[in-house]
Amino acid sequence: MSVQIVIGAQWGDEGKGKIVDIYAERSDVVVRFQGGNNAGHTLVIDGVKTVLHHIPSGILRPEVRCVLAGGVVVDPKVLLEEIEPLKQRGIIQADRQLLVGAECSVIMPYHRALDQARELSRGGNKIGTTGRGIGPCYEDRVARRSVFVRDLLDKEKLQAKLEDVLPEKNALLKLHGAEGFEMSAIMDEMLGYGESLRQYVGEANSEVREAINGGKNVLFEGAQGTLLDIGLGTYPFVTSSHTVSGAACVGAGIGPRFVEEVIGVSKAYCTRVGAGPFPTELHDELGQALREKGHEFGSTTGRPRRCGWVDLVALRYAVQVNGLTSLAITKLDVLSGLDTIQMCVAYKDANGNLVNEVPLDSEQLEGIVPVYESMPGWSEDITECRTLDELPEAAVNYVREIAKRCDVKVNLVSVGPGRKATMETDLR
Ligand code: GDP
Ligand code: IMO
Ligand code: MG
Repeated sequence: MSVQIVIGAQWGDEGKGKIVDIYAERSDVVVRFQGGNNAGHTLVIDGVKTVLHHIPSGILRPEVRCVLAGGVVVDPKVLLEEIEPLKQRGIIQADRQLLVGAECSVIMPYHRALDQARELSRGGNKIGTTGRGIGPCYEDRVARRSVFVRDLLDKEKLQAKLEDVLPEKNALLKLHGAEGFEMSAIMDEMLGYGESLRQYVGEANSEVREAINGGKNVLFEGAQGTLLDIGLGTYPFVTSSHTVSGAACVGAGIGPRFVEEVIGVSKAYCTRVGAGPFPTELHDELGQALREKGHEFGSTTGRPRRCGWVDLVALRYAVQVNGLTSLAITKLDVLSGLDTIQMCVAYKDANGNLVNEVPLDSEQLEGIVPVYESMPGWSEDITECRTLDELPEAAVNYVREIAKRCDVKVNLVSVGPGRKATMETDLR
């Protein structure tokens, strides 16, 4: 048996999808435990690109069971749209490969509308959400008025819940100058989705526990990244769920003692989509060059990602709060061709005082001045390298320096989007 968790160690889009697909070769079950279709996880296998929003990144491994555990928020419309092409490619066959938790909260049309209306009302103070209704859906969960996936299979229950919540949602939408929703239209739409999803729905958390008790290899797939965590990230510029490794336990209902490995995924540099502080952001041509070379445009919204140097203060924080047992470093290939590479090794505040941890107060973090150290770059194209021996010495030194300064080993280095553009390492 092995229980592993893969999480994002930065602000999302670190390449979790690719890394999960690789680890999934040895997994029986891959489980999403938080977030929803704000995620965009990209897999490239034999040149074919698949972008997943809801479905776990084990789906291209035919023997792997993919589970949406109870901590996930599900937009049934998006999920069905995602299932269809995978079914046509012969990847998903009825309920064999995919299990949608009856206990997942449903992203309702009014959640999407509220998310978008609120962002519009914020004017210049936008969070830059994905507009997928994630925040309003989690709000309802905490407020104890969630519609669950199981409710989509029960007309009376759904009607009773909607009678309770819809008038308030419509009043809120009106406040933001947005259109409200008709009860009958929502009922018809959601019950329709329920029928289409019925074949995939089951008690996900109990199946995950059974898998663990049965000695299976279970891999948990995080979405977003550590610094987007609702409690431990750069609030309020965060997502509305816990994104750290601990969330796998509460999202799928397993005790922490079962977890053996926690793998953090980090780019060899850093990106962020949406608003919020980003100490190492490059506002110059170099930032632009990284964006172009790394194809740094959002997998979900297509927005350009902000780019900057790797931030080891933030990464050390991610190592701590997630209890990382190893790191996977992605996109090392994107740094090829630079004479020198900068790494942020410390922060200073506006008065020049050293700051050892990431200040979670956004205003304070906004005023942080990164302290950089330079490392020699390399000129070679490394996308065909498959072992450490084949990498230029400067590239190995750069990764080793990250491992050393973060006090965690690097077990995997990725040098391209494809499944094969990866090497196992033991750098520390
Ligand atoms: P996720 O949300 O963490 O799964 O990451 P995304 O899929 O949103 O973004 C990562 C992007 O980088 C995708 O387009 C991947 O195909 C791509 N990618 C992953 N690893 C590498 C790598 O090592 N090199 C390059 N050049 N691209 C990579
Ligand atoms: P993956 O799983 C990067 C960001 C949004 C916004 C903030 C809140 O692909 O790494 P939300 O819609 O969640 O309320 O938006 O979080 N965000 C992501 N950024 N990758 C993601 O997912 C993200 N999911 C949300 O850009 O700043
Ligand atoms: Mg992504």
